[in-house]
Parts: sequence; C-alpha cells; structure tokens
Amino acid sequence: MKKILIANWKMKLFEKQSLDLTKKIKKKKFSKIEIVLAPSFPYLSAVKKLLAKTTIKLAAQNSAAQTLGALTGEVAAEMIKDIGCSYAIVGHSERRQNLFETDQLINEKIKRLFEQKITPILCVGETLEQKKNGRRNQVLVQQLKNCLSKIAVLEKENLVLAYEPVWAIGSGNVVDVAELEAVWGILKHAISMLVSENYFENNVRFIYGGSVDEKNIEQFSALPFVHGFLVGGASLSADKFLTMAEILNRS
Ligand code: PGA
Repeated sequence: MKKILIANWKMKLFEKQSLDLTKKIKKKKFSKIEIVLAPSFPYLSAVKKLLAKTTIKLAAQNSAAQTLGALTGEVAAEMIKDIGCSYAIVGHSERRQNLFETDQLINEKIKRLFEQKITPILCVGETLEQKKNGRRNQVLVQQLKNCLSKIAVLEKENLVLAYEPVWAIGSGNVVDVAELEAVWGILKHAISMLVSENYFENNVRFIYGGSVDEKNIEQFSALPFVHGFLVGGASLSADKFLTMAEILNRS
C-alpha cells in the first residue's frame, strides 16, 4: 500500500476556496504516494469533478452510523459512496469532544463504511491530561478496541489508523519520534491481538496527525513504520501541502 497524505480542510473553506486549492494541488503528480482531499460535505461533488483524470482521492469528513433513512441532517455511507469518496474520517477528536461522539457510535460508523467498501480513517488520541496522568496507552488501546469491536469483515478490509494526540492538534506541538514509535508498537500489538499481525502488516496504514507541516514532516516521513499523515492547518496552503507531498514522495 502506498503512503498516504490526507488534507483535512475541516469546516474552514467555502466552495471557491476548496476548488482553487484543489486546482493548485492537482497540478503536481506524485507517483509513490496517495493524495486524499477531505473538503466539507457541500463541496464534495464539485471537488470530485475537478479530480477526474487525476489519481487524487476524495474523503468525507464524517459518515452516519445509520443506513439510509429518516435521519434529518445526517449523511449516510451509501451517499458518501455515491458521491465517489474512497475514504471517510471517523473518530476525530473534534467530534468526540464537541459533539460527544462515543467509541460505540464510531464503531457503528465503521461498520456502515465497510458495508460500502469505503476505507475508514480512524482517529485515536489521548488528551493532555490523560498523557500527564500516564494513561496514554490505556486510552489508545481502549479506543481502538471499542471502535473495532465485533466487526466481522474487519480482517478483509483496509484501515487507515491515525494517531492524533489531542494536545498536538492545531497547537504547533508535535509528538516526538520515540513517543510515536512507542504508540505504533502499542497499536500494532492491540490490532495483532484483535485480528492478526498479518492484518496489521498488510491492511493497516499507521499515520500521524497533529501540527504536521512542511517544516517538521521529514523527521516522521523517514520512519519506516509511518505510512502517512492527516494534515489540518498546513493543508489549507497549496504550497505547504505540496511541499509535504514532495517530501513524503521521496521518503
Ligand atoms: P492540524 O490538524 O494539522 O491542524 O494539527 C490535524 C487534524 O486535526 O487532523
């Protein structure tokens, strides 16, 4: 599987800004990595049109836990599939914290995504308080186990697993390399117990997110166990995002 660079534009760009950014990003080609754009829901179709004849993939920033039906305001995995998304972000800490999303809800979302053959980008991460209290490992393993519990098809499906420490998101602080390696080891062990080591090796891409930018990416992209990045702030600038893509592409 190719390394992956995901632009999470969050709730920050209007249509024109999303399209302008897409046009700039699609000008450059990267043979060794996969580029994924996650615009806001109303602009997915317009961005998708611009991506025709490119290898850039589309991601939804969320997906409903329920199937198609009477649920005002939600967007079903069937619809996300219909628009042409290959990925959907689930479990982002901004949704866990502001919208009170639980692991159980995220688990249902992942099931719906797998039913539609959409690859989940599952975010897990500890808060600063949990980190300070020495609870990081416990929190991460619990999130992972809960979010992936009772998914019969899991061993056949691909997963992007994003370690996103809450204290690193949008803060300018990044994890250090030793910590990242420790977390990778813990999550690898947890998935190996849950499914198999083979599954982790062949179907899971372990990525990092949290204040990654064009200046600090290299220390992480050089690590053999890091398969990509989920980028917020720095993905709003074409120059920064393309520089990051270049660095990852030659890593
Ligand atoms: P950031 O966001 O790069 O702005 O820290 C990352 C994320 O929330 O996925």
